[in-house]
Amino acid sequence: MKQFYSIAIDGPAASGKSTAAKGVAKKLQFLYIDTGAMYRAFTHYMLSEHLNPKSEEDAQKLLPSLKLKEDKEGHIFLNGEDVSSEVRSLEVTNNVSYACAHLCVREKLVSLQQEMARSENVVMDGRDIGTVVLPDADLKIYQIASVDARAKRRYDEFIEQGLKITYEEIKQDLIRRDYIDSHREHSPLRPAEDAIVLDTSDMTIEEEINAIITLFYQKVGDIWNNTEK
Ligand code: CDP
Ligand code: CDP
Repeated sequence: MKQFYSIAIDGPAASGKSTAAKGVAKKLQFLYIDTGAMYRAFTHYMLSEHLNPKSEEDAQKLLPSLKLKEDKEGHIFLNGEDVSSEVRSLEVTNNVSYACAHLCVREKLVSLQQEMARSENVVMDGRDIGTVVLPDADLKIYQIASVDARAKRRYDEFIEQGLKITYEEIKQDLIRRDYIDSHREHSPLRPAEDAIVLDTSDMTIEEEINAIITLFYQKVGDIWNNTEK
């Protein structure tokens, strides 16, 4: 008898994963887990301890003392401290793809993420959710959008926050991070074989959320039908 449902949403930066995941979680009353925020918090931890995010040896030093928690309002806590705004800094963004590529870091965070999904219905977004973290997820979405659509979305976000950054800088950061994320040795960014690819370039947020919910009910319907046989 199935107990908890899970939806995995993966894809490149700014493809709209977290916006969609939050909306879907709210409508279905599932728990939303932002795994990118966990890797960002670990990167912030390394930087605040003056360690080198590219060094696996340095990363290893912090793992035994690492405690991460996400609350239902979307805040992330590092060793008890709310670091939700710190994890969005440019310095963290520039270093996260290095810190998160080490095998020891991935093993630790993946096991925390799997633990979180064991006792709740969840929507989880990231880069390796469908392939590594939740290989048995009920629905796997691989969300994409053109690099220009993604850069425009991030640019609008930053301008609204009053940050000084050019469109070209944002576009280059997305291209750089996507390249590192999809070419790393451990858990690279790629669609799971059974993922449904959703191109959100021309979709509104509402359309995106509704598309995922419709796909989820189609899948869940299949599970129920199979259980009854
Ligand atoms: O929101 P944005 O797309 O800028 O990034 P994010 O989802 O917050 O993730 C930040 C970084 O964490 C990504 O560029 C990946 O390097 C890494 N990440 C990962 O390796 N695996 C995940 N499951 C989630 C994020
Ligand atoms: O989580 P990820 O990095 O994939 O992207 P996001 O943070 O959810 O979305 C990046 C920005 O694109 C946000 O400001 C969203 O409001 C916006 N967005 C959009 O304009 N249209 C969509 N269909 C989805 C997201």
